[in-house]
Amino acid sequence: MTHDTTTLNAPPGMPATVLDWVAEIAALTQPDSVYWCDGSVEERDRLYAEMTAAGVLTKLDEKLRPGCYLARSLPSDVARVEARTFICSAREEDAGPTNNWSDPLAMRETLDRVFEGSMRGRTMYVIAFSMGPLGGEISRLGIEITDSPYVVVNMRIMTRIGQAPLAAIAAGAGWVPAVHSVGYPLADAAGVARPDVVWPCNDEKYIVHFPETREIWSYGSGYGGNALLGKKCYALRIASVLARDEGWLAEHMLVLRITSPVGRVFHLTAAFPSACGKTNLAMLRPTIPGWKVETVGDDIAWMRPGPDGRLYAINPEAGFFGVAPGTSEKTNPTCLHALSHDTIFTNVALTDDGDVWWEGLTDEPPAHLVDWTGQDWTPGCGRPAAHPNSRFTVPASQAESICPDWEDPAGVPVDVVLFGGRRASNVPLISESYSWEHGVFVGATVSSEQTAAAEGKVGALRRDPFAMLPFCGYNMADYWGHWLAMGRRLGDKAPRIFQVNWFRKSQDGKFLWPGFGDNSRPIEWALRRVAGEAEAVDGISGRVPVPGQLNVTGLAISDAELAELFSTPPEAWAEEADLTEEYFNQFGDKTPPELYEQLAALRQRIATAKG
Ligand code: GTP
Ligand code: SPV
Ligand code: MN
Repeated sequence: MTHDTTTLNAPPGMPATVLDWVAEIAALTQPDSVYWCDGSVEERDRLYAEMTAAGVLTKLDEKLRPGCYLARSLPSDVARVEARTFICSAREEDAGPTNNWSDPLAMRETLDRVFEGSMRGRTMYVIAFSMGPLGGEISRLGIEITDSPYVVVNMRIMTRIGQAPLAAIAAGAGWVPAVHSVGYPLADAAGVARPDVVWPCNDEKYIVHFPETREIWSYGSGYGGNALLGKKCYALRIASVLARDEGWLAEHMLVLRITSPVGRVFHLTAAFPSACGKTNLAMLRPTIPGWKVETVGDDIAWMRPGPDGRLYAINPEAGFFGVAPGTSEKTNPTCLHALSHDTIFTNVALTDDGDVWWEGLTDEPPAHLVDWTGQDWTPGCGRPAAHPNSRFTVPASQAESICPDWEDPAGVPVDVVLFGGRRASNVPLISESYSWEHGVFVGATVSSEQTAAAEGKVGALRRDPFAMLPFCGYNMADYWGHWLAMGRRLGDKAPRIFQVNWFRKSQDGKFLWPGFGDNSRPIEWALRRVAGEAEAVDGISGRVPVPGQLNVTGLAISDAELAELFSTPPEAWAEEADLTEEYFNQFGDKTPPELYEQLAALRQRIATAKG
């Protein structure tokens, strides 16, 4: 196909593959103009000014929140839409039973239909971006086309956009194409115009991935992971496929460095489902003396074996797109301080003096707010002021805890992997896996109470293997097999795997564990295990601390509460084992035999405990 490239406004030196693709998307979506983002501060400020003038953004008070803006989405567009997320592999079994599959050819017809003319009356922005430090061996390039300036300013924080990735692409580096439209054209096919709205989107939504051809198409939503295509779509769904094919791992994990009182340095990654505490743990302030945490990443880790045979992790992102509610001086001061300037807030409440507020920020809510829907709000009015999935977008460099090596293209060597979720019962505060295979079994069987990060019933217990349920771009059982293969490759250099649960509740429904900074205590035990200094005893879920080995000095927690935090009732675990068997059976003969062996070993431990 040939295209008229004269109106593309492309910077010099763009390869024909890029020009052809941009021209093809422009021909399909019919924007008024094409604009290539250079990533500069001037460009950002121009977009901020345009969006503020149009009422899309509210500029916050320059003294209280310098450089900060507030956006409000529509109630129909506040979270990832898992039911509208598709993996369009050639074969259905390659998507597997936990993904929505659609035939690639049929989906292409649908996409042609919805994207046709979808950018009429709008500017089409072309954003070249790098996931990971530019030029790093693990890093990857992409180009997102979008008709949303809100996406541009968010991508500028979340990834590395503009001149540098454009230059790398001009020099011939590979890139993943990603097309995004909010699906709200400003003119119909006959050219009849309509006015824009503050949050354009479409009730029909498609978040589509073609794993074989490594393409992303997103239609109808302007929110978060639906629209910032470098994040979940690329860095997890497409990257997990690249990782499978190339022998590395793309994971929904935070990455941190933790230094002991005697200066021993460890690196830890942790996979928790959405809105289950990754950002909090990534910026942990240990309550036990002498320990120090530095942040490498809060949501995604790309990991691969390094020259010394150990597993090395990078954070492919450049910013944090974190949950606002619950973030406070008490729970996560480091994060709160990062949000003091140059941050985009989405769906939080606005104070009368031009600042932001959300549930949990202060004990006492302000007497009056404008809530996330733009309505007046007063305490006790019965509505939340901020949406439960309201978020901030902030450069990672603004966190005072940022690790000096967070942008090292070689990554950091991983000592410990944690798996966790929200579990009111059964799963103990911490337990250590018996082996890599057992760790993979633990990861594969993670269940968690659903949060507001995705559409659906909040609180319902659901399986979320490796916290990757919404993010694995291929068959989940093949993914487990890939993890098992990685363990064989890493051998005795593999990280040690632990399971944690900060969300255990007492009979009367209260959290048994204080959490947050005190999560340093079980982590200390894990690191002392790695160092060969702490004692453990075999349990149903794994090895647990010998009484007295978990540092609870200074904590107001009773022995009875501690016992409850670690209790693993055999009857309940027997039921979990039955559900796990059913769960594994869904994947047919794709479920690795090692996982059934682990299930048998678990049942043996349950039987022993029953006596
Ligand atoms: P995504 O960005 O959605 O992938 O999530 P995340 O895992 O980064 O979530 P985040 O850290 O923002 O989790 C926020 C929620 O977890 C808030 O409701 C916090 O109050 C809660 N949370 C985090 N750590 C703890 C903890 O140690 N104990 C308790 N009880 N709640 C916690
Ligand atoms: C998640 O839901 O896990 C997130 C937020 O990190 S979003 O980028 O919107 O997917
Ligand atoms: Mn996430």
